[in-house]
Amino acid sequence: MIPSVSESRAARTLREIYESGRPLAYVRSSEELRIGRLLAALGLPVWTWSLTDGLHQAGESPVPGTTDARAALDFLIAHPHPAIFHLKDFHEPLRDSSAVRRRLRDVESACFDRQKFVVITSPVRAVPEELERSMVFVELRPPDEVELASFLHDEQPDAPAALLPQFARALKGLTLDEARYALRRALAAKPELSAASLPYLLEEKRLLVNRSGVIEFLSTPTNVNEIGGLEGLKKWLFERQRLFELRDEVSAEIVPKGVLLMGIPGCGKSLSVKAIASCFQLPLYRMDMNAIFSGRHGKPEVVFAEACRMMEEMAPAVLWFDEIENAVSTQTVGGESGRMFGFFLTWMQEKTRGLFVAATANRIDVLPAELLRKGRFDEVFFVDLPVDDERLDIFRIHLERRGVPVAGLDLAQLTQFTGGWSGAEVEQCVVSAITKAKLADRAVNIQDLITTAVGIVSLSRTMKEQISNIRAWAFERAVRASPPASRASKPMM
Ligand SMILES: Nc1ncnc2c1ncn2[C@@H]1O[C@H](COP(=O)(O)OP(=O)(O)O)[C@@H](O)[C@H]1O
Ligand SMILES: [Mg+2]
Repeated sequence: MIPSVSESRAARTLREIYESGRPLAYVRSSEELRIGRLLAALGLPVWTWSLTDGLHQAGESPVPGTTDARAALDFLIAHPHPAIFHLKDFHEPLRDSSAVRRRLRDVESACFDRQKFVVITSPVRAVPEELERSMVFVELRPPDEVELASFLHDEQPDAPAALLPQFARALKGLTLDEARYALRRALAAKPELSAASLPYLLEEKRLLVNRSGVIEFLSTPTNVNEIGGLEGLKKWLFERQRLFELRDEVSAEIVPKGVLLMGIPGCGKSLSVKAIASCFQLPLYRMDMNAIFSGRHGKPEVVFAEACRMMEEMAPAVLWFDEIENAVSTQTVGGESGRMFGFFLTWMQEKTRGLFVAATANRIDVLPAELLRKGRFDEVFFVDLPVDDERLDIFRIHLERRGVPVAGLDLAQLTQFTGGWSGAEVEQCVVSAITKAKLADRAVNIQDLITTAVGIVSLSRTMKEQISNIRAWAFERAVRASPPASRASKPMM
């Protein structure tokens, strides 16, 4: 068969095995329907075997006696025409019968060069030792966008073609069976596929990742405008967004792969990660390192590696490692977490394009130097306490978000009472002042804000020394997320 331009990854794998002339393949997968589809596309008649139905061609009755595995092999050996034989769950007869194992070795010579192709599918890898060398073992990864788009087209021929790539992307990371459930869910809600169906398709994916127990799908759309200050970070973000969109056209080394945000708690790191996902128009997933280390889901290093790989199947996406210092701190390196860290560094460099990693850290002094070395992340940003202008910006954002128009408020007065505050403290001040005014049954005014501000003791005052240390450390190793211009008005503490 001539490979088509839009051949899926899985179709190519199977075609290449077939064309290499090897008559026996063992595919580990529980997706029998999907493999049936892929085999049918090879262009030969497909016979299917199962323990309950025996051997039959689509739409025809089974060959008598072939529920017996040995008889089925005899039949296909004698079969005089080119054909594909799909043997479902054949690992069971292989395990149970030495005669079947022996007969399968005969299949190899009987089918060689006769355009007969035998494909065993099974959810488990159980290849008997004596057959190891006779067959190709393949593990099918979840369907790629090409396969998903063609599946969607087959299931819903009337779906708008222009939307198929977007739908396919929404389903990426799901098996074809799961994609089918997602499609049913979407069709139940909206009988015709349209842009409005997307959230329903994504819902199935959310359930899937949540089942893993270690990755969480976050749907908290956050506009970049909701971040006060941090103009340097925002500018960088808009530039990267363009490059990220071009990721399949530009060379691998300039495709954005990740960013590390570190700094003082409560200054907008988590908020920025959510904004990155919205800005890139990608779904956001958070890796829960505590759940991984808990051991509830298996050996941490194995679970971690699996979760990273699973996320590659979800790409394009943003993957967030929150408080990454807990996972890779120099204090825990050695043993298990040392291996995890090693894996993480390699993975960061090799992972698929289209998976953007956002890591955040508070305790930056414990991060290993290797993590900060150029090439791991595209940029390491230091998110400092907001300077005067930035705090005013944050006041405005939080007031407006709560329906308070700022036009009549002279916010500039607040700068002198809020030196050294974090964004989270600004938000807290806004909430308290509004609450107080509400209780008095009137609109909030600048005096409420000032009175509240005077009563707040900021964290930076109680943790002065720690914060100086973080700063001293970060100034040498990271780029400020606020633009250099604002350095003139250094935040006071
Ligand atoms: N720069 C900022 N702009 C707007 N709001 C902010 C900013 N920094 C902090 N906040 C407010 O404080 C909350 C906590 O900030 P967060 O992003 O979780 O801090 P971090 O992750 O750096 O510890 C945010 O949800 C937001 O409401
Ligand atoms: Mg945070």
